Amino acid sequence: MTTATKEKDIETRLEALREKIRYHEHRYYVLDDPEISDAEFDQLMNELKRLEAEHPSLITPDSPTQRVGGKPREGFVKLPHSSPMLSLDNTYNVEELRNWDRRVHELSGRKDIEYVCELKLDGMSLALGYQQGRLARGVTRGDGSVGEDVTANVRTVRTIPLSISREKLKAAGVPPDFEVRGEMLMPLEAFGKMNEERQQRGLSQFANPRNATAGTVRQLEPSITAERRLDYFAYALLEDGRTYFPEHWETLKALETLGFKVNPARVRVSNFEDAWRFIEKEEPKREELPYEIDGIVIKVNRTALQEELGQTGKAPRWAIAYKYAARSAITQIEDIHVQVGRTGKLTPVAALQPVPIGGTTVSRATLHNLDEIERLGVKIGDWVEVERGGDVIPKVIRVVEDKNHPRGHRRFQMPEKCPECGTHVVRSQGEVDYRCVNANCPAKLRETILHFASRGVMNIDGMGDALVNQLTARGLVGNVADIYRLTKADLLSLERMGDKSAQNVLDEIAASKKLPFERVIYGLGIRFVGERTAQFLAEHFGSMDALMDAGEEELEQVEEVGPRIAGSIREFFAEPKNRELVKRLREAGLTLSGKKKERGTKLAGKTFVLTGTLVRHTRDGAKKLIEDLGGRVAGSVSKKTDYVVAGNDAGSKLDKARDLGIPVLGEEELEALLRQ
Ligand code: IVH
Repeated sequence: MTTATKEKDIETRLEALREKIRYHEHRYYVLDDPEISDAEFDQLMNELKRLEAEHPSLITPDSPTQRVGGKPREGFVKLPHSSPMLSLDNTYNVEELRNWDRRVHELSGRKDIEYVCELKLDGMSLALGYQQGRLARGVTRGDGSVGEDVTANVRTVRTIPLSISREKLKAAGVPPDFEVRGEMLMPLEAFGKMNEERQQRGLSQFANPRNATAGTVRQLEPSITAERRLDYFAYALLEDGRTYFPEHWETLKALETLGFKVNPARVRVSNFEDAWRFIEKEEPKREELPYEIDGIVIKVNRTALQEELGQTGKAPRWAIAYKYAARSAITQIEDIHVQVGRTGKLTPVAALQPVPIGGTTVSRATLHNLDEIERLGVKIGDWVEVERGGDVIPKVIRVVEDKNHPRGHRRFQMPEKCPECGTHVVRSQGEVDYRCVNANCPAKLRETILHFASRGVMNIDGMGDALVNQLTARGLVGNVADIYRLTKADLLSLERMGDKSAQNVLDEIAASKKLPFERVIYGLGIRFVGERTAQFLAEHFGSMDALMDAGEEELEQVEEVGPRIAGSIREFFAEPKNRELVKRLREAGLTLSGKKKERGTKLAGKTFVLTGTLVRHTRDGAKKLIEDLGGRVAGSVSKKTDYVVAGNDAGSKLDKARDLGIPVLGEEELEALLRQ
């Protein structure tokens, strides 16, 4: 046999083996109905691994072995969507839902309209691009028009097929190049395990499975994503940005045929009453589901009718979400503690008799501030209703009082002194919050360090509560720059710190130096400067030096920066200690400059007004395109307006533009102008 035929032979064997593994993966992960034992499956996988190791040139990106591993990424590349990824209007109210149904009938002028009802899964939406039947890209929703390329992470999710055979495509009636949209989520069990493990390692907890999903999909190490068992349910199939099948119900079936997981709880109905019945029937079942849902989505079944109905803003008129009420439970307040935040703000937090709410045990709930405690009339010892909404920290919503739930007696008092440092606290005039005024309060320091090290900022994994507490208490870290001076010996001197963990922390610290400039700005903890503002500042100034020296006027040129934020930034950099801090961060090798966003000048001096529903872009997307070329987007039409861009159903602004003789552009004409 020649080497070439031998190679061909092995390739055939490899492909057969892969096909077999894909089949069993689908049975196991998607259908939950395995045909072979785990051991048999492992055997197949091991054989494939062995063969591939012997012939590395024959490894393909869609091989089942390629799910785990992958190289860590530097950051995420932005990718535009084929068509906007919309959000959904929602309601908690059956009357509003009925009105929506009426409107759909009115707008379409039809009597018989079919709907499909599905669960509203509480995760993050994600688009998957397939080319020639192979998974080519996974993109987050982002702002709806541009998302982030998270392909490497998406590949690790077992319920997402890496490749789909020609036979399957044929059986489903789907072209080889297509796009799937659906929801990525983290099952409750995986979520619980992950948080438990994080707690043991002294890392911060994710507030809910949705955040955990987003955090996992958007972290840079695919092997970590692989460990955290995410799941994906598909609900849309597109070609060139448009829904492919004439009916949504068909789409769901085709997705199943392709091997995607499609949620089994769904119905096709032909009137509102049946849709409502489904909503009522599914609500109690939510407690039994292994993942979180927050409602039901109702969608018009026929694609042609969907297109006819179009969208308003960022949500389609052809679909709506009915949200179930947030889940709550009744429990007793054992005590009320005060927590000191990064800015010195004192937050009262209720310590609760632990109670399960929708799959997690809740033992703390925020009471926000003293005004809120007074509004609720809460005393220590009271029985209260605690609500865990889709996101954030659980909150106390009311006091419960009946013969089984007697009132508590101890009133809560805001301490006069900071519970952390004993300095007196103040409530400035007109402010709701009490603050510790000590600039060197250890709590402020601790929270500042925690913020700096947190996932969305410098992402120093391992630097959670437990470690930061020790570092600040021992005086090893007195400001964020000190983090970069830590030595292995420093870390080894701490409790529960072995050689390996210490090295991990040092590696994480070193890796954080490479993070982009905007993260450092955000990490400084300048009051009112959040993630978004930091991003705008970085783009505008391009370097820390330019930012530090900017006057208020120039600061106010930056998107979303007004006098309040500009003042706070000036105040921060006027403080010599803070300038010294930046100097030390620079010496440590952090990234203190980035690409200044050069604005084009083609549209300089031109003012645009956008009106009606844009189909090819989202509002924000179109605005950005114009601004990137130096143009300005205004909210209302006046003599100073140069162009009005009109989408569907444009109203009074369009009339006014016509009255004033202002040129009106359609979306395509706008694109042509931008391209010119
Ligand atoms: S359809 C235009 N179907 O809800 C249609 N979305 O609030 C938009 N979601 O961003 C998506 N379950 O992340 C659809 N069965 C379902 C869904 C679902 C959850 C999420 C999705 C979307 C958000 C909108």
